[in-house]
Amino acid sequence: MAKQLSGAGLRGQVAGKTALSTVGKSGSGLTYRGYDVKDLAQNCQFEEVAYLILKGKLPNQSELDAYKTKLRGMRGLPTALKEVLERIPKNAHPMDVLRTGCSMLGNLEMETSFDEQQDVTDRMLACFPSIICYWYRFSHDGVRVDVETDDDSIGGHFLHMLHGEKPRELHEQVMHVSLILYAEHEFNASTFTARVCASTLSDMHSCVTGAIGSLRGPLHGGANEAAMEMIQGFTSADDAEEKMMGMLERKEKIMGFGHAIYSESDPRNEIIKQWSEKLAADVGDDVLYPVSVRCEEVMWREKKLFCNADFFHASAYNFMGIPTPLFTPIFVMSRLTGWAAHVMEQRADNRIIRPSAEYTGEELRPVPAISERA
Ligand code: COA
Repeated sequence: MAKQLSGAGLRGQVAGKTALSTVGKSGSGLTYRGYDVKDLAQNCQFEEVAYLILKGKLPNQSELDAYKTKLRGMRGLPTALKEVLERIPKNAHPMDVLRTGCSMLGNLEMETSFDEQQDVTDRMLACFPSIICYWYRFSHDGVRVDVETDDDSIGGHFLHMLHGEKPRELHEQVMHVSLILYAEHEFNASTFTARVCASTLSDMHSCVTGAIGSLRGPLHGGANEAAMEMIQGFTSADDAEEKMMGMLERKEKIMGFGHAIYSESDPRNEIIKQWSEKLAADVGDDVLYPVSVRCEEVMWREKKLFCNADFFHASAYNFMGIPTPLFTPIFVMSRLTGWAAHVMEQRADNRIIRPSAEYTGEELRPVPAISERA
């Protein structure tokens, strides 16, 4: 007989093995292949971390240069994909656009063998920012943006297409940090979705398309967008405190707080919070950042709940002029590395993931004749 469930949401249950990351176990609380995320965010660019996660080692200078050159050469979008993007309405959610974009790419550039998994992943890493920005700029500004920029980094490429000009160094740097922080997080909901899909020996685009769907929800990646919507409604730190107290009284969930694994703090918060503060000073903000800090204080004081990675990402992205609905797609641009690496890991040692359920339904019974049914 199957073991009884110890808790809802599979909490605390080991559902497989990974050599990719640890959460809440060592260092500041999050490590990628043995390196502390704090160390990586301080010393690396996102492309180095993507290389580390996908290939197992930090690249040396020539490997990094070659990897960036490869990614730069893969930013273009096929005409058929651009046509699909042009048909998606302006009021669609960008996560749905990305889900469709990824799926369409899989039709046009199918992964025909697992030998192609690295190239297929690199292609997605290079062109997801193009997909988001091509649709966004076309549907909002009527512009067919040039997606083949010569920007050095994935984050720079994204900001360039979004704003129509080369990004400032500070903004490109924040994008590196942000993408590093979001890159990988063990068996979170979207990664688990990708691994379940991979365990059926499905293709990479299907695994990533499913993962995008899981990340979209406000309990997961959608929290950065939801947090922004909330803090935007606060006019000052005092206003934030008053309204948050009301929300807590009504037992509302406050997005951007709490975590399924971390119990006292999310190591990513300290890092992105510092960058949010720098960006606030840069734009001369005296509302959003103090509001965010007060929210953090109130939640800790009242509920012992702490900011997760998403909370200060909201203000940081806002200070860089990024529209709120694009927050979660940025998460995708980054987490794609973790998803793909997990798919590769699953494929290398696969057994179809098929847990059991605890049955709570009716006892066995005969089918009554139709005339005897209520
Ligand atoms: N706001 C208000 N209360 C919260 C909360 C939040 N953000 N997060 C947790 N709580 C409360 C729960 O209501 C619960 O209270 P209860 O015992 O009185 O019912 C208690 O804290 C325990 O939390 P729980 O929901 O069991 O944690 P979980 O492991 O099931 O869920 C999250 C973890 C992340 C889904 C949850 O904290 C949450 O919904 N956070 C907001 C969404 C978010 O920011 N997601 C991004 C995660 S990186």
